[in-house]
Amino acid sequence: MIDSSDLRMKRIPLNHGIGQMPALGFGTLIPDPAVTIAATRDALEAGFRHFDCAERYGNEREVGRALQAGLAAKRIAREDIFVTTKLWNSNHRPERVEPAFEASLDRLGLKYLDLYLIHTPFAFRPGDDQDPRDQNGNVVYDRDVTLLDTWKAMESLVDRGKCRAIGLSDISLDELKPICESASIKPAVVQVEAHPYLPETELLEFCREKGVVFLAFAPLGHGMKPGLLEDPVISGIAARVRKTPAQVLLAWAVQRGTALLTTPKSAARARENFDISTLPEDALEEINRIQTRQRLNQVVKTGVPGFIPHSG
Ligand SMILES: NC(=O)c1ccc[n+]([C@@H]2O[C@H](COP(=O)([O-])OP(=O)(O)OC[C@H]3O[C@@H](n4cnc5c(N)ncnc54)[C@H](OP(=O)(O)O)[C@@H]3O)[C@@H](O)[C@H]2O)c1
Repeated sequence: MIDSSDLRMKRIPLNHGIGQMPALGFGTLIPDPAVTIAATRDALEAGFRHFDCAERYGNEREVGRALQAGLAAKRIAREDIFVTTKLWNSNHRPERVEPAFEASLDRLGLKYLDLYLIHTPFAFRPGDDQDPRDQNGNVVYDRDVTLLDTWKAMESLVDRGKCRAIGLSDISLDELKPICESASIKPAVVQVEAHPYLPETELLEFCREKGVVFLAFAPLGHGMKPGLLEDPVISGIAARVRKTPAQVLLAWAVQRGTALLTTPKSAARARENFDISTLPEDALEEINRIQTRQRLNQVVKTGVPGFIPHSG
């Protein structure tokens, strides 16, 4: 008998007692503004209460508008949803952090954020150009600011009460360790690519030890085909437990103790991706034995996003 009640509502405590993150998160990396609004509304309607945004996605206004309308229509309180956004690479200089944060907050139409992440550990040339390039087309990095400098500016946002928690994204274990050692406010969350082809077990273990929430993106392998959604182990389990491959992958992620972000773009898929059920232990073990290894998103190596559309 499969229990369907708990996984959907699971909330993971953040360190320092600063609240809880709903394990099932909706990601807003959606190129089209109208689709952003509809998909965000549908996700809220389906039951998602965790929304992941970013300055770099270029659609914080649309997400904010959809959330405000949805909260009002469904009489949901702001405190009942969890909203994250991210500081982009061209804003790593400490003096740029608070203005970037305030601009995101304003676009989202919110008074506070639940979580603010450094989008990648790579600092780009400071300025309004989000994708600075030299004459040869190479990214212009900023060598005059360290990740710790940026982290300290993030800490001061928490101190001033506009942001409940801070964390990092697209970070390796080697880059995370020194921040955890020297920070006065430890990272509450790390957001990285993770799925059965990239389980990131060592990073997950470290996060467990330190009480850092591990937040997986690409739990469906970015929906790429061929890929995870068609993996014979996943489809075999899906047939056995009478769920879809997507539901199996999402349940696996939550049951191994991570939070996740998924981006269904239709109401039907939002309902499908929210409607996950506990998998039996042998199914989890079978997934853990998958040998294929594949990283889909190279952002962790360069800071250049793999899946961001050009705005305007
Ligand atoms: N920190 C970072 O650098 C970073 C990088 C990437 C993503 N993210 C975050 O993670 C979020 C999740 O993005 P993701 O690409 O990783 O999401 P995902 O859910 O793994 O993949 C989304 C893709 O899967 C498809 N899909 C969704 N539900 C499905 C279902 N039930 N059955 C079959 N296909 C399904 C979608 O297809 P359709 O388009 O056809 O609906 C889409 O192509 C983003 O929105 C963003 O918030 C962060």
